Amino acid sequence: MAQDYIKIPDAYHGYAQTHFCVPKHYEEDLENILIPWGLIQDRTERLARDIFQDVKDEPLTALCVLKGGYRFFTDLLDKLTTLNRSHGSVSVPLYVDFIRLKSYENDDSTGDIQVIGGDSMNSLRGRNVLVVEDIIDTGHTMAKLLAILRQHQPKSVKVASLLVKRRPGSTGYRPDYCGFEIPNLFVVGYALDYNEYFRDLNHICVINEAGKKKYAAPKGSD
Ligand code: IMP
Repeated sequence: MAQDYIKIPDAYHGYAQTHFCVPKHYEEDLENILIPWGLIQDRTERLARDIFQDVKDEPLTALCVLKGGYRFFTDLLDKLTTLNRSHGSVSVPLYVDFIRLKSYENDDSTGDIQVIGGDSMNSLRGRNVLVVEDIIDTGHTMAKLLAILRQHQPKSVKVASLLVKRRPGSTGYRPDYCGFEIPNLFVVGYALDYNEYFRDLNHICVINEAGKKKYAAPKGSD
């Protein structure tokens, strides 16, 4: 059986940024383009179809994990609503909600998380919830978020993550829907950030050392 995600091997070096369009202000800061925007769209279209077929015509609450998940969320929802319009015999009533996760530790994703923003999580009781996330790295954030969500007794919870990172120290968590499995690299673009920079880049790119240095958080900042 085919893998249900696209595996990007460690030896793959993506595309030179000269082959695509990148904002001038990031030209010096990127190693390569790992996943061009067009490929993200095509993969997301298929994920939307898989989700649509699994859900049948039960209502679905799509829960966007901000800020990194917002572009994947809007594109996935666009594709789901297109299926809703065009399919004819089946449609999925969609609700949307947004949460932001605040980590208690600055640069260590193993820290405790707190949910901020969005409607009261009590509104998820009895609902089929689809969590839409940008990337699973160690998997700790998702494990904690799922534990919090379950306290609010949804009918079901599934997770769609555009990316899963292959990295040592991972909890081994796999989302129900995954776009791409990527090497252990820090990626930016398509709403994924490095200290709030690069969200305004369309492609998913590997940041270079110069970029990390240029956009490093000022010492003492939160
Ligand atoms: P985890 O708890 O280690 O799985 O971390 C998940 C969170 O870390 C994601 O939701 C992102 O906000 C952030 N993150 C992890 N890796 C990257 C990356 O390569 N680029 C941007 N953000 C990342």
